[in-house]
Amino acid sequence: MDKPHLIMAEGRLSLMVDGRPFLVLGGEVHNSSASSLDYMAREVWPSVRNLNLNTLIVPVSWELLEPEPGRFDFTIPDGLIEQARREGVKLVLLWFGLWKNGISSYVPGWMKADPDTYFNMRDRWGKALPAVSPLCSRAVERDAKAFSALLSHLKSFDKERTVIMVQVENEMGLLGECRDFSEEGRRAYESPVPPQVTQLTRKSGAWQEAFGDEAPELFMTYSYASATERIARAGRMAYHLPMYVNAWLEQYPWYPGSYPTGGPIARHMDFWKAFAPSVDFIAPDIYLPDFEKVCGEYTAGGNPLFIPEARPCMDSASNIFAAFGEYGALGFSPFAIESITKEVPPPDPALMAELNIMAEAFYTYRSGEYLAESYRLLGGMLDLIQKNRGTGRLHGFTEHANGGTLVRFQNVDFLISYTRRDRESPKGGGLILELSENRYLLCGLNFTAVPRPKYAEPGRMELISVTEGRYESGRWEPCRRLNGDELGLRLGPRPQALMCEVQGFR
Ligand code: DGJ
Repeated sequence: MDKPHLIMAEGRLSLMVDGRPFLVLGGEVHNSSASSLDYMAREVWPSVRNLNLNTLIVPVSWELLEPEPGRFDFTIPDGLIEQARREGVKLVLLWFGLWKNGISSYVPGWMKADPDTYFNMRDRWGKALPAVSPLCSRAVERDAKAFSALLSHLKSFDKERTVIMVQVENEMGLLGECRDFSEEGRRAYESPVPPQVTQLTRKSGAWQEAFGDEAPELFMTYSYASATERIARAGRMAYHLPMYVNAWLEQYPWYPGSYPTGGPIARHMDFWKAFAPSVDFIAPDIYLPDFEKVCGEYTAGGNPLFIPEARPCMDSASNIFAAFGEYGALGFSPFAIESITKEVPPPDPALMAELNIMAEAFYTYRSGEYLAESYRLLGGMLDLIQKNRGTGRLHGFTEHANGGTLVRFQNVDFLISYTRRDRESPKGGGLILELSENRYLLCGLNFTAVPRPKYAEPGRMELISVTEGRYESGRWEPCRRLNGDELGLRLGPRPQALMCEVQGFR
């Protein structure tokens, strides 16, 4: 079986799985779920089974993989792969190694017990922080070995290629301080910036001298990216799967260390691209409400969009249309996927505050039912989306604070207004695909679209016909022809598809 890989063709990156382009309709499980295969079988697979997803995103933790130095236990990854095969879905593995959300809680016990060898970062007063320093070469080396052992095992065990991608670490960066003040940290910070940094930025001298206020964060970015490169490269040499890193976004209260400093925030993607070239792309975890702003930032400069963690609330059922329609996403995956089909208690406010996530992002009320419908609708037309990704023939949108959206095609514009009536269904969101000069497919929910002649062109644009239906395995299955009272492009509170013909008249 062809192994999963990325290809660049017609100006866009595609993820090839089993020899064909693949778009991830995914879900990421809670952090601890995949530490027990029984728990996965009992609690997770049954609750994700009806969501119409094609990929599950699951952690592999270093502490369980290498319980003693040099002894590896592959029971969990092997079991996850077998379970996924039975369920007919693919896996993305998250390598919870040295860093997970700014700290080092997933490193093996033997590493935690030896802070002299595997030293932590320190704050400006000299207090040890709960994260191993990216400047600790011996720790990075051990992580690289463990990661490469995992990849090498996958290469031989996963002959059916169930694992399609790997995330290297999780939401890297240092929390609670702007830079590493350990002895090694201070020394490196006060030394001249490495020549490759000078080559990229044309700045020289010590970090502070070269970068002023930006210095602590750029120093940490360089340190994390370089460490990640060693880890990712070791993994790739063992088994070359697509690899990415994910980002805790730069956000309020904005100072480095309030979000993990040194992580792959959009502003510093150039450092990540330059100093971690074995990482294929950078993926935002989007819990913030301004979904499209983040998508725009993470696709600037040609980075492909993959969202390993999206809000588990109802918004995801709408945001996904913007992700695939407008930003050419390779995949979309709400976090806490096993909880979104359940009535779960509201999230713990203390944990949400610690993670700097708005509680609304975790309200899962009716979220699973809508996501399942969006996934079903999109799942039937993935080939069509793939073919048109990143072209002017496909556009997506989702409700935002500034009213509607104007969607522009070559021959016609559509004016989108958002029409959600109450909180029982998700906000508006959809995509429009130009099938031919005057035939368009509209998918999504809670919006209306009015076709308009191109700006500055005289005349009017009329709807000639509207048919509801859906794509099943790439084939359009029509249902009602909408006319009379139903004539119009009105997408209701449940995800649906309409096919229309329009014509301009002078
Ligand atoms: C982002 C992290 O990447 C996840 O692992 C998880 O901790 C969520 N935040 C919050 O539950």
